[in-house]
Amino acid sequence: MTLTTKFLGRTYTSPLMNGAGVRCTTVEELEALRQSSAGSFVTKTATREPRAGNPGHRMSALPYGSINSMGLPNKGLPYYLDYLTSLPDQGANNFLSVAGFSEEDQMAVLETIAASDFAGIVELNLSCPNIPGHPQLAYDFDATDKLLAKVFDRFDNLELGVKLPPFFDPIHFDQIAAVLNKYPIKYANSINSLGNGFFVDPETDAPMIEPKGGFGGIGGGYAKPTALANVRALHERLRDDIALIGTGGVQTGRDVYDLILCGASMVQVATAFGPEGVAVFDRLNGELQSILDSKGYADVTSTVGQLHTV
Ligand code: SIN
Repeated sequence: MTLTTKFLGRTYTSPLMNGAGVRCTTVEELEALRQSSAGSFVTKTATREPRAGNPGHRMSALPYGSINSMGLPNKGLPYYLDYLTSLPDQGANNFLSVAGFSEEDQMAVLETIAASDFAGIVELNLSCPNIPGHPQLAYDFDATDKLLAKVFDRFDNLELGVKLPPFFDPIHFDQIAAVLNKYPIKYANSINSLGNGFFVDPETDAPMIEPKGGFGGIGGGYAKPTALANVRALHERLRDDIALIGTGGVQTGRDVYDLILCGASMVQVATAFGPEGVAVFDRLNGELQSILDSKGYADVTSTVGQLHTV
């Protein structure tokens, strides 16, 4: 296998990892990921306090993907910090996803991390679509700018990336890139689910999920073209020292390869990881390896951004 991947000065055996949300909430699930052939893992997005998430039936498979309105159920930041700092490398090669519900909350979360022994990478989730009354922060460019100014004023040595929602207009790609380029962020992870989609259950003629009247984030195959567009657009606009993680619609090695061609250095698997479990990483590593071999690439890092022009 030559899937060696460089990311933020670290070396990984594979560019693949899970997407925050699926099978990464408990220590048992994180341990399964750690023992798997994924190159790294990210935790479920952690909040200051544990959260039960949205009530009712909140996730369903769809014909070409999934819909969810989980509402950030998680065990609370101390749980994830305890686990990560108990690892032999204090989590140096792993990602801790976090979110807050106000600027004060976000800052308090980062204070707690900065005061801990966690040696890994922090992913600030600016894009959860499933919290009633809380819009996806990254759609508000001024608020994102203000938050990042505050974050980097206070913490100059956190290795921090941001999880972005999908954008759908070149002007919005320009605007988010202009904000991110102002700050020493290490990477952008693009994309979170396609927010506030809807699906009617043909068995019941009712919405497929219960929270938020049936509106939820759409993942899986539906998301792939939008994920590719966002990774490509950000690759063209972000500073060279801001890396990209590509997330959205990965079902095959070809999907991984496409995201890498568009500029992703690492690739996350969310919807497909649900039913397949950690075996999905074995399958995708094998499929990606065959593609890289057939195309003559020696490793993943030299493949990043190598999209051909028409
Ligand atoms: C959720 O917990 O609602 C999904 C996570 C996310 O979209 O960030």
